[in-house]
Amino acid sequence: MPGLTNDQKEFFDKEGMLCIENFLTPEETNQLLEQSKLLLTKVDLSNHTKTTFKTADEDHIGDKYFFESADKTSFFFDIDAFTSNGELTVELSKAINKIGHGLHIQNPLFKKVTFSDSVKQIAKDLNYKDPKVLQSMCIFKQPISGDVKERDNAVPPHNDATFLFTNPQSAVGFWIALEDCTLENGCLSYIPGTHKTYPVSKRFVRTNGLQGGCKFEQLEDEKPVEGEYKHVPCKAGSLILIHNSVLHKSEKNKSDKSRYAYAFHIIDGVTEYDNKNWLQVPYEGGSEFSKLYKIEV
Ligand code: FE2
Repeated sequence: MPGLTNDQKEFFDKEGMLCIENFLTPEETNQLLEQSKLLLTKVDLSNHTKTTFKTADEDHIGDKYFFESADKTSFFFDIDAFTSNGELTVELSKAINKIGHGLHIQNPLFKKVTFSDSVKQIAKDLNYKDPKVLQSMCIFKQPISGDVKERDNAVPPHNDATFLFTNPQSAVGFWIALEDCTLENGCLSYIPGTHKTYPVSKRFVRTNGLQGGCKFEQLEDEKPVEGEYKHVPCKAGSLILIHNSVLHKSEKNKSDKSRYAYAFHIIDGVTEYDNKNWLQVPYEGGSEFSKLYKIEV
C-alpha cells in the first residue's frame, strides 16, 4: 500500500503542507462528491439552531449543537447565510459551510476513505504510535450565482493546533479535494515552514462545560507573521496533508464553480488531550476517539 516516499516526508517536514495528487480515483472522488451533495439536501431548519461557522477571533460558535456534533452529521452555516431576522439569504442547500464532525462514524462512504489502508499507511509513515480520528467534515465553498455576487466563505489565517490541541502537538489534517481547487474558487494557501517558526500562541477552549461558550486562551505573545502565502491549487482527488502548526488559510470563492472538500484530522493517542478542548467524546469530557487501527501492545 503506497504511503509517503522519503521525498514526500522531507517535503512535509520542511514545508508543513504536502499535496498528493490522485490520492482517490475519479470514481471514489465522484462518489464522495455526490454523497456531499446528497447530505446538503438533508438539512432540516425546523429544529436547527442556525449555528454558523467562523474561525475568526471573536464571535466563534460555542453552543450545544456544536459541542454535540462530534459523532453526528450536523450542519453549520456560512456566516452570511441568515439576515438578522433569521431569514435565509440564499437557498438552503447553498447556505451550508460545513457538515460534521462525525462523518467518519455515521457515513459508510466517508468512513471507508478515512479508515482506508492508504490513510493508515500515511499515519505509520508519520510515526504515529496510536492514531485516532478526531473529527471529520465536508467543507463547502459555494460559487457566485445569480444576484449573490460574493459569499463570506473565506477561512482566515490559523493553525489547526489552536482548535485541536494536544500536548505535545500531534494533529495532522487530511484534506481531500472533491472538486478542482483553483486560485479563483478558494484553494488552500500556507506559509512554508511556519510550523517550525511560528508558535501556537493561543488555543480555543470551552468556558463552561457543555452549556457555555468558547473563547481563545492566550498562551504566549503573538509573533509578527513573516513570509509569503503559497497557494496549493489541485485537482479533484488530491490529498493535502496539513501540519498542526503551519499557518494556512483560504480565500473567498470568487468564481462560478463550487469548491467542495472532505477533511478529517488525526491525533496521536499517546499525547495528552485535556478537557479544555471544545471537542470531547463523550461530550461531558473525554478523549475516546476512534482508533485509526488497533495497535499491538
Ligand atoms: Fe485549518
